[in-house]
Amino acid sequence: MNGRFAGQRAVVTGAGSGIGAAIARRLADEGARVLAADVDAGGAAKTAADIGGTAVTLDVTDPTAVHQSLGGEPFDVLVNNAGIDDFGWFTDVPPARWRRTLAVNVEGVLACTQAVLPGMQARRYGRIVTVTSEAGRIGAKGNAVYATSKAALIGFTKSIARENARFAITANCVAPGPTETPMVQAIRDRGERGAALLAAMVAGTQLGRLGSPQEIAAGVAFLASPEASYITAETLGVSGGMGLGS
Ligand SMILES: NC(=O)c1ccc[n+]([C@@H]2O[C@H](COP(=O)([O-])OP(=O)(O)OC[C@H]3O[C@@H](n4cnc5c(N)ncnc54)[C@H](O)[C@@H]3O)[C@@H](O)[C@H]2O)c1
Repeated sequence: MNGRFAGQRAVVTGAGSGIGAAIARRLADEGARVLAADVDAGGAAKTAADIGGTAVTLDVTDPTAVHQSLGGEPFDVLVNNAGIDDFGWFTDVPPARWRRTLAVNVEGVLACTQAVLPGMQARRYGRIVTVTSEAGRIGAKGNAVYATSKAALIGFTKSIARENARFAITANCVAPGPTETPMVQAIRDRGERGAALLAAMVAGTQLGRLGSPQEIAAGVAFLASPEASYITAETLGVSGGMGLGS
């Protein structure tokens, strides 16, 4: 590994599990000092211990806590990765459930981005990478609110890219396809229906398989690195070609 992030400070939300843990490890392996943030205190602590970073227990839906935890120090890299899904036909999803999904997946990203931007602007450097989903680009049967939340992140990222180009801050999204994490295991655990759903997701990729958290982390690390200096407002599919649609 080279040291693309040597001397840099990075924060990764949802770093206690799955894709976020892999991103935290990748950035740390390449020299970053990583703050692993997660609502799951044990997960954040475990990742921090594994990579030699620091941990913070943080619920991204609490803007006051986010500003307290992230607003006080300058970060070179923000990875907005924390997210939840919530399967169900849209006609069965009550407002309390859609509010929860939007609160974590959208408002959490707004809060974290707002907390770190002033420090990046003052230092005229920043890389913001937000983990969206191919669901946000092509829709998702049985996951409409999740797809809505992930589509919103693409519009938000383009806007942040526009507003902050003058500070040499870039903002991009990575759109994973189905990736082998506890989120996907939870689908598998739903029995026959879950297995069918997962099979349909895999069939929607060109490569015909799940991705690994490390493969997603590689895409995130590229966009978070100094060398991605002329890339902003983009969404990079790391999805085995799922963006084509099946
Ligand atoms: N796994 C996939 O197939 C897949 C596909 C596309 C996109 N994604 C996205 O990748 C990201 C990571 O997903 P994953 O598969 O690693 O899931 P995961 O469930 O393994 O990890 C998500 C992490 O986010 C944390 N989190 C949840 N709510 C939080 C909150 N309010 N505040 C702070 N942290 C919170 C969880 O504690 C957990 O550690 C998510 O944004 C997800 O939508 C995943």
